[in-house]
Amino acid sequence: VTVLFGTETGNAEMVADDIASALGEFDIEATVVGMEDFDVADLAASGTVVLVTSTYGEGELPATTQPFFDAMKAAEPDLTGLRFGAFGLGDSTYDTYNNAIDILVGAVTDAGATQVGATGRHDAASFQPADGPVAEWAKQFAEALSDRTRRGGHEMTAASIDRELVPWSDPEFRNNPYPWYRRLQQDHPVHKLEDGTYLVSRYADVSHFAKLPIMSVEPGWADAGPWAVASDTALGSDPPHHTVLRRQTNKWFTPKLVDGWVRTTRELVGDLLDGVEAGQVIEARRDLAVVPTHVTMARVLQLPED
Ligand SMILES: Cc1cc2nc3c(=O)[nH]c(=O)nc-3n(C[C@H](O)[C@H](O)[C@H](O)COP(=O)(O)O)c2cc1C
Repeated sequence: VTVLFGTETGNAEMVADDIASALGEFDIEATVVGMEDFDVADLAASGTVVLVTSTYGEGELPATTQPFFDAMKAAEPDLTGLRFGAFGLGDSTYDTYNNAIDILVGAVTDAGATQVGATGRHDAASFQPADGPVAEWAKQFAEALSDRTRRGGHEMTAASIDRELVPWSDPEFRNNPYPWYRRLQQDHPVHKLEDGTYLVSRYADVSHFAKLPIMSVEPGWADAGPWAVASDTALGSDPPHHTVLRRQTNKWFTPKLVDGWVRTTRELVGDLLDGVEAGQVIEARRDLAVVPTHVTMARVLQLPED
């Protein structure tokens, strides 16, 4: 591990030395290098680094972090192979407490690097030496690093890969699954889950497989759980029942009629947006998503719109 420090008056260098010693306790060999002595072109191939910086001015980067940061921004390196830990020094009497390490973490993350563990912080206003926070930070960093290394190696089981790609029960994933979906589409567009199911995530592939005549609904797939609602729909059944259901709805979904419904939805959204004044706040989910689709469906089914 390379511990890279940027500083104004030298505290960050001492903390970098402390971090290197603390990591030694976990059998992690660390070399301390000043950011001013480090060529950013070497960053992508550095494996794992620890970034250490203080904050100066009003939330700014200190003297030796700034040129490193500027050089990195200019070079726009692809850091997808880089893992990094982060530790900041600051003073909580400033509103911009530890701003610089957050700026640095943001920049390397944007360039594709993966943070290992949480960002550590030392607060000069605590009047405590840094060794306490450093020891605590080094412990969680070393643990997170060994977890990652294990997962990256042969000990990574099929089940743990699945959990990482689609962590269904993770509240963060449930709140916003799209970053995971994006990674799935990019790196694992056709992924075989541990139970043998193939997870297909690209639109063109889904569209292709959904229409293949050899595809059929797995027996019992909707017996339990949320899929049960789809069990008596065209989507959840095979021919001949599928064909019966499909024939009943087909007449509403000819390309010509679908064009009409698209126009209806577009008009509803357009009317709503035309009526919005500059600076006015709208409830986008309800007004733009729910209402136009609801009204369109009501018109498709010739039901009252209210
Ligand atoms: C002039 C000056 C400005 C500072 N500005 C900030 C700041 O905006 N935010 C912050 O968290 N700490 C700020 N600090 C606190 C330093 O980050 C802290 O003292 C740190 O230990 C200095 O580390 P260094 O010697 O490696 O630069 C400031 C300190 C000084 C003297």
